[in-house]
Amino acid sequence: MTRPLIYNAFVMNTASHITHGLWRHPETRQRDFNQLDVWTDLAKLLERGRFDALFLADVVGLYGNYRGGWETYVREGLQIPSNDPSVLISALAGVTENLGLAFTSSVIQAHPFEFARRISTLDHLTNGRVGWNIVTNFQENAHRNFGIDGLTEHDERYRHGEEYVEVAYKLWEGSWEDDALLRDVTGSYSDPSKIHKINHAGERYSVEGPHLPSPSPQRTPVLYQAGASAAGRAFAARHAEGVFTMAADRETVRSIVQDLRRQAVAAGRHADDLKVLQGLTFVVGSTEEEAWRRDAELDQYLSIDGMLAHMSGAMGLDLGFSEHDEPLTELAERVPGVQSIVQGVIDAAPKGTRATVGDLARVNARATRVTGTPEQIADEIELWHEAGVDGFNVMYAITPGSFEDFIDHVLPVLRDRGLAQREYGPGSTLRERLFPGNGPRLPDRHPATKQRAIWEYGPTALDTAVATR
Ligand SMILES: Cc1cc2nc3c(=O)[nH]c(=O)nc-3n(C[C@H](O)[C@H](O)[C@H](O)COP(=O)(O)O)c2cc1C
Repeated sequence: MTRPLIYNAFVMNTASHITHGLWRHPETRQRDFNQLDVWTDLAKLLERGRFDALFLADVVGLYGNYRGGWETYVREGLQIPSNDPSVLISALAGVTENLGLAFTSSVIQAHPFEFARRISTLDHLTNGRVGWNIVTNFQENAHRNFGIDGLTEHDERYRHGEEYVEVAYKLWEGSWEDDALLRDVTGSYSDPSKIHKINHAGERYSVEGPHLPSPSPQRTPVLYQAGASAAGRAFAARHAEGVFTMAADRETVRSIVQDLRRQAVAAGRHADDLKVLQGLTFVVGSTEEEAWRRDAELDQYLSIDGMLAHMSGAMGLDLGFSEHDEPLTELAERVPGVQSIVQGVIDAAPKGTRATVGDLARVNARATRVTGTPEQIADEIELWHEAGVDGFNVMYAITPGSFEDFIDHVLPVLRDRGLAQREYGPGSTLRERLFPGNGPRLPDRHPATKQRAIWEYGPTALDTAVATR
């Protein structure tokens, strides 16, 4: 069964997420993110727009250094202050019925036994609407916050991720049999012969089990991932059901999508077991002129320092020692092994002009922004779809205004073209929304379901577990 494109709202429980400086805009509610109604109102709006999910990013530490320190991040509200996204999910569950609710949690921040239990609780409370964005964490400060002596080596972080999901899969899929829960008021609450300890003994974790919650509607939450490196993509191809991209252009996304699907098939999954969601911000106007006027108005609030500080963290390169008008070529000469993103901005400068460090920020802010009339935006969405993406992470400049504009003006055009759903499809879980007809649980070809063997053969039959019933 096919479905129209997928639309997620991409947000974060913080003052300034991606487009920095915009928290100062008079119309945004983002700076009031500590208030519950900012979030419950947004969730209700997204459900009215028949969005598939609200997706919360998260970090558990500071980005790197900017001008040698972290003061700029604090001044910019750049992901500090920030609040826990998972706590928010249960409040949003209470005001929505259909919207998927996904959040980010890194493998370094919570023990998998605790995390798996929290997810199962949320999956029960939302009636199967929870998703998890698996991140391995690229922040040195975050590692130190959890007692790790500096950033773990890149590929080793993904090996950590492998064991983390293995423990979680055992708890979600392998610990309780489907008919273990009885709630028989004349007998037992649950059947002990159908609940199994997992006895995981691995490199990093030792977990006896059993899982404490009973099986939730989806058992395993919908799994998202956004790895870009070779190790990250291989991880996504094995595990993810949704992959987030922030590709700068459609040709890049086309090759990412092809690579991901090829690797998924090699891992025994189906090519369409993976839904690829590209992040885009939309600036809408009833005329092209109005759209560009609004676009220019947003740019007045853009913080060049904020954008550069975020990029510094992500690139592992402190851009704060350069003046905003310093030519990028000079930066490139000073910094060995200049990154492709810098070279791209240098190459894109119009003839006769020299790209500056400030341009790096401006180009980055615009890289995933689409400005135009509803019809022009729908055209652009169609082209991205043709390049292979299954849907979008809709980002905001101001909230809820950016989402309101998209819902009220762009989605009706997309619906007329069959590119957006008019109503939620059948089935109540997030997984059924994304994969209609497949049921609420993971298909048998997903590696998590291998852990169901614990019910049938006992954990000793598994390659990794050394368990007994
Ligand atoms: C749309 C999108 C959302 C992301 N959200 C988060 C996040 O919330 N927290 C986080 O620590 N990393 C986040 N990342 C970073 C990725 O998890 C990943 O570390 C990054 O894309 C680099 O890939 P690599 O780890 O394979 O090198 C996100 C990336 C993308 C593209």
